[in-house]
Amino acid sequence: MQIFAHRGLSSLYPENTMAAFKAAASLDIDGIELDVQLTGDLVPIVIHDAILDRTTTGTGVIKQHTFAELREYSAGAHFSLAHTEEKIPSLEEVLRWALGNQLILNLELKDSSFLLVELVLELIKTYQLTDRVIISSFDHELISRIQGVPTAIITSEYIPDVERYLSLIGTKGYHFCDYCIPKEEALALNKKGYHLRPYTVNHQERIRELLDWNLSGIFTDYPQIAQIERAASHKG
Ligand code: G3P
Ligand code: MG
Repeated sequence: MQIFAHRGLSSLYPENTMAAFKAAASLDIDGIELDVQLTGDLVPIVIHDAILDRTTTGTGVIKQHTFAELREYSAGAHFSLAHTEEKIPSLEEVLRWALGNQLILNLELKDSSFLLVELVLELIKTYQLTDRVIISSFDHELISRIQGVPTAIITSEYIPDVERYLSLIGTKGYHFCDYCIPKEEALALNKKGYHLRPYTVNHQERIRELLDWNLSGIFTDYPQIAQIERAASHKG
C-alpha cells in the first residue's frame, strides 16, 4: 500500500507548500498529493481553496489575482510564523523539484477547466514525469477527457455499480472518502485491479486496518505515522 502525504506533510507544515513537500520527501513514503488551480493570468498553482483567506495572508478570489500578485502573500504564516517565508508554489516549481526525488505526484485538479488540463499535461510532458503522476479530480467529465497519464476520479459519496461508472469515465483510479464503501466491495475491486486510494486517513488504528486491506494507497496528513505502521506490518 502506497502512502501519499496529503497536501504534503500537512500535519507538521503549512499545506501545499514546498516546505510540506520537502518534509514529505524525507519520509519513507511513496508520494504526495497536491491541489492545482489556475491564477487569473493562467498559471497553474498549488493551493486548495478557491479563495486566499484560509491559508495565505491575502484575501479574496484567487482567479482575480495574477501569479505575480499571489507571490506577494505568505502561504505559511497562518500555520506558524516560523514559515512566513513560504509562498504559494507554482506547479512548475513542484515538478522541477520532483526531478530530484522519486515521489509519485497526485495532482488534484480543482478547476473544472480543460485549459487547466492542457497546461498541466504540457508541464508533465516538459518535465518528463508521465510515469510518476496521477491526475485526479472531483470533476469526472474532466477526467474522462484525459489520456496518456494515469487518472482517478475522486468522490465523497457512494457510487452504485462503480465498475460500470469507471469504465464509462475510462479510468481504473478510484479515490473515495474513507468509510464511503464497504470493506467487501473495496477488497473485490482491489482484487480486480482497480486502484483504490481512500482519503483522508488520519487515525493510526485505521491506517493499520487499511494496511491489511492492501489497497493501492491512502492519503494521510500523518505520513510520518503511516510509514511506521507500514514498517511494523512488514515485520509481521
Ligand atoms: O485527493 C484527495 C483529497 O485531497 C480530496 O479532497 O478537499 O482534501 O482536496 P481535498
Ligand atoms: Mg486534494
